[in-house]
Amino acid sequence: MAEIKTIGVVGGGQMGSGIAQVAAMHGINVYLFDTDPQALAKATSSISSSINLLVSKGRLSHEQSSDILGRLRCISNMEDFHFADLIIEAIVESEDVKKTLFVQLDKIAKSSAILASNTSSISITRLASSTSRPQQVIGMHFMNPPPVMKLIEIVRGADTSDETFKATKALSERLGKTVITSQDYSGFIVNRILMPMINEAFFALYTGVATKEDIDTGMKLGTNHPMGPLELADFIGLDVCLSIMRILHAGLGDNKYAPCPLLVQYVDAGRLGRKRGLGVYDYRKEPKGKKSSSRL
Ligand SMILES: NC(=O)c1ccc[n+]([C@@H]2O[C@H](COP(=O)([O-])OP(=O)(O)OC[C@H]3O[C@@H](n4cnc5c(N)ncnc54)[C@H](O)[C@@H]3O)[C@@H](O)[C@H]2O)c1
Repeated sequence: MAEIKTIGVVGGGQMGSGIAQVAAMHGINVYLFDTDPQALAKATSSISSSINLLVSKGRLSHEQSSDILGRLRCISNMEDFHFADLIIEAIVESEDVKKTLFVQLDKIAKSSAILASNTSSISITRLASSTSRPQQVIGMHFMNPPPVMKLIEIVRGADTSDETFKATKALSERLGKTVITSQDYSGFIVNRILMPMINEAFFALYTGVATKEDIDTGMKLGTNHPMGPLELADFIGLDVCLSIMRILHAGLGDNKYAPCPLLVQYVDAGRLGRKRGLGVYDYRKEPKGKKSSSRL
């Protein structure tokens, strides 16, 4: 397969904007699309500020920064994806919505293009089966935030070809990432292990074992995790965590994966974490621009 020079990114939220930024920073032309024009405007401004910050720190020259921004094109019509060698979707974590998108992408994308999903847990095999090119569908699971985190978990669906796998791995390495490979079972590697830990932290809070602060401090200082599990859940998004737990529960059929009622209640109440200003913790009074975490 020829080298990937142009990609499409669908979804300009937390993950899609970060993926678009990393790709543009590594010399790849990027088309970025979101159904919500406000999300697209927010993505553009967050990518520009992040690039400007790197310039102010002396890590990028002005010339490099304008080259990077010049490689990024926000589009309001998915037809432009016809120019992409690979399209990564990073939209809402819903199998039905993603399948509808894959049907559309299959029609728009050129016949040689790879369709990749950044899903945290949805079956790549099932997404692939909604297209006419299951051998060219693959999971490309970036970690949050994509410009910082070093890992990409590549997930091979039942029909993913070796050629698709090799091209996706080569692209991931070109983006400066380390690749791990998972077979297509619920949660793959990272979330199969991480989400039950986060869910257990919610059970510890729900059953009054300890305060949220002590649960997080315990895991940070006691096990050397850079963020506590509840703080991390707020960072990922409680809706994303809940949806992954439901997928683990349904896909692996074991009640040990049943979501904690407190996690369900927070999501029902709209307490989705940092992105909403309120999750396990309250971020509404935090100074603007402050990000949590030792991961950033
Ligand atoms: N948040 C994380 O830590 C994390 C980490 C790894 C993977 N993921 C996965 O990445 C994906 C996106 O997560 P996120 O946290 O960026 O979500 P987000 O809510 O921040 O962004 C999703 C974006 O997709 C857009 N969108 C929704 N439906 C669309 C459609 N049909 N076409 C185009 N755009 C559409 C929304 O307008 C929104 O801007 C999910 O599959 C999630 O599981 C998330």
